[in-house]
Amino acid sequence: MDIGKAGKTGKNKGFRLGQDPGGVPIDQDGLAISAHAMTEEELEEQKSGKKNDSKKDLTIKEMVTAEVVAQAVLSREDSLYDLKLYIPEMAAVVKPGQFVSLYTEDASRILPRPISVCEADDKTGIIRLIYRAGGEKTGTAQFTKLRTGDRIRVLGVLGNGFDLTNVPGKHVYVIGGGIGIFPLYELARQVSTLVKKMGAEKQSLTCDVILGYRNRRFFEEEFDAIATESEDLNLVVNRDQKGNYVRVQVATEDGSAGVQGNVLDVMAELENSGSTYPAEECVIYACGPKPMLRALKAYAEERGIECYISLEERMACGIGACLACVCDTKEVDEHSQVHNTRICTDGPVFNAKEVIL
Ligand SMILES: Cc1cc2nc3c(=O)[nH]c(=O)nc-3n(C[C@H](O)[C@H](O)[C@H](O)COP(=O)(O)OP(=O)(O)OC[C@H]3O[C@@H](n4cnc5c(N)ncnc54)[C@H](O)[C@@H]3O)c2cc1C
Ligand code: FES
Repeated sequence: MDIGKAGKTGKNKGFRLGQDPGGVPIDQDGLAISAHAMTEEELEEQKSGKKNDSKKDLTIKEMVTAEVVAQAVLSREDSLYDLKLYIPEMAAVVKPGQFVSLYTEDASRILPRPISVCEADDKTGIIRLIYRAGGEKTGTAQFTKLRTGDRIRVLGVLGNGFDLTNVPGKHVYVIGGGIGIFPLYELARQVSTLVKKMGAEKQSLTCDVILGYRNRRFFEEEFDAIATESEDLNLVVNRDQKGNYVRVQVATEDGSAGVQGNVLDVMAELENSGSTYPAEECVIYACGPKPMLRALKAYAEERGIECYISLEERMACGIGACLACVCDTKEVDEHSQVHNTRICTDGPVFNAKEVIL
């Protein structure tokens, strides 16, 4: 499949033909969009490689046609796919927790699908995305047909991402539930790098990665590898001696591995075993289903722990224009004068204190 050729054949004219009478493009799913579609000239420029060579500041959203480096099935039972795309401009600038929007080649499905960046490598220019494919008629099901060498239109980099500026000296909880663990992988990798750096500088930084599953576990080995790396460097020592570590714990609802229950049960076990730190030294970064995030928000507020959560909402434009993705906030937005915020541009990562779940 060559999604990039859609423009040549006129297929991506759907962006223009698919407009409603008011001029707002409408997806088959009934959501309005306003994302900029690539013109045929831009597409040609892209395909000739001119565009991919430029290192642009992708804090400004950019549409690129990316080459598929590889795609593999991560879990057939869970319909999870592991997609690697060559997008050097994005790999060079992406922050953990940011996302990209992927376009299908189906002109009746003109809305892009937001997928978080799981891993980014600025040396190879590859970004890795792990997504759950929906039923036969969904846009994500179309992505499963992508093979090495195919091309796909990608809008990015989107959203704010997690901010790691203040983590040195802290105890970091990286907490994911279900497919919410994927955006946390790049975050955990970067924390792990910082842990080693802090260790070398005799400063303290520790991290508990907590992964929550229903029953089947996936991607656990990747997180385990991060923890093992730290152990290899003999950095696992008592925090009182300025220790540094990344350790990974698992919760399963059916008790098939780790702690039986959910991520909060792992937190409770850590508390019971005295393996916690003063609230002011802790920070939580989390992504997962809303009930999990709601429970973590309450947990953090009760204990006065700083907590950042990545939210998910149905999205259309992905760039702040359509208001499909708003979420309730405590503060009134000074422009709109209402209690809400756009997850795609103001988030997806929010200070848990600021949002109402
Ligand atoms: C910031 C963000 C990051 C995400 N990261 C990942 C990820 O890393 N891996 C992953 O598997 N999924 C992720 N999702 C969810 C993913 O975007 C949806 O599962 C996907 O868009 C559904 O599309 P579909 O073609 O399968 O379904 P359809 O039913 O065909 O989708 C119809 C329309 O609704 C939108 N939509 C439906 N469900 C969602 C949803 N949950 N979130 C946003 N838009 C939705 C679709 O984008 C599309 O425009 C993320 C969502 C958000 C908002
Ligand atoms: S998806 Fe359009 S404003 Fe967020």
